[in-house]
Amino acid sequence: MTGTIVILTGAGISAESGLGTFRDVDGLWTKYDLNDVATPEGFARNPELVMEFYNARRANALAATPNAAHDALAKLEANYSGEVFLVTQNVDGLHEAAGSRNVLHMHGALASALCGACGHRWPANDIMATSDPCPRCKAPATRPDVVWFGEVPYGMHVISEALARAETFVSIGTSGEVYPAANFVAEATQTGAHTVELNLDPSAGASRFAETRFGPATEVVPRWVDDVLAGAK
Ligand code: APR
Repeated sequence: MTGTIVILTGAGISAESGLGTFRDVDGLWTKYDLNDVATPEGFARNPELVMEFYNARRANALAATPNAAHDALAKLEANYSGEVFLVTQNVDGLHEAAGSRNVLHMHGALASALCGACGHRWPANDIMATSDPCPRCKAPATRPDVVWFGEVPYGMHVISEALARAETFVSIGTSGEVYPAANFVAEATQTGAHTVELNLDPSAGASRFAETRFGPATEVVPRWVDDVLAGAK
């Protein structure tokens, strides 16, 4: 196997690094109403609450370290003879901290700030405030550089092109409940890619994958990477 591998990751790959998922038993959406902290309307209603939510998530993410699953994907990129394109729904920086380089954050990143007035993005302060002036237009319109519900994810054209040339599509640690990411497996299947789900338990879309392996990401991801690098897949 030497063809392009496209990988999609979700919150489950960072769970064993101590970062919460969204829809599991103690997930973030069981503690916060996503309409309050993950929509433009919620931000307009109460920007301070939203900034507090993301400042807390940034602090947690900065204190977390990559786990064996993040490390395995970095090892795959470094040793695989073909292209490895990693699309993450996560806003933490654990893939980059593990050494992955070809990473696209389709839902944005806690590490950067976004200007609500001119669209400029820059490295976020650890504690971000809406009053922080934009370095480019100076407007006090700072917001998290996170794609909220109802907003357009980053890089969709690049992702579709990657899925069109993929030999293998792997989905790791995502519930398959949020679109457009949940439809990537259908796009990959259409172009003849081999599809794999690596997850703690079957996601909503598990039956759409040609191959599934269930268990903690720190166990199933390194094993799958070793199989790929041994040419077994
Ligand atoms: N190893 C592997 N998978 C795990 C682990 C683990 N240790 N722990 C949890 N999971 C799996 C769960 O079984 C679940 O299928 O990770 C998935 C997490 O699902 P969600 O909490 O829905 O997270 P995610 O799929 O990333 O959410 C997608 O929704 O709220 C939005 O923007 C947010 O990017 C997020 C998107």
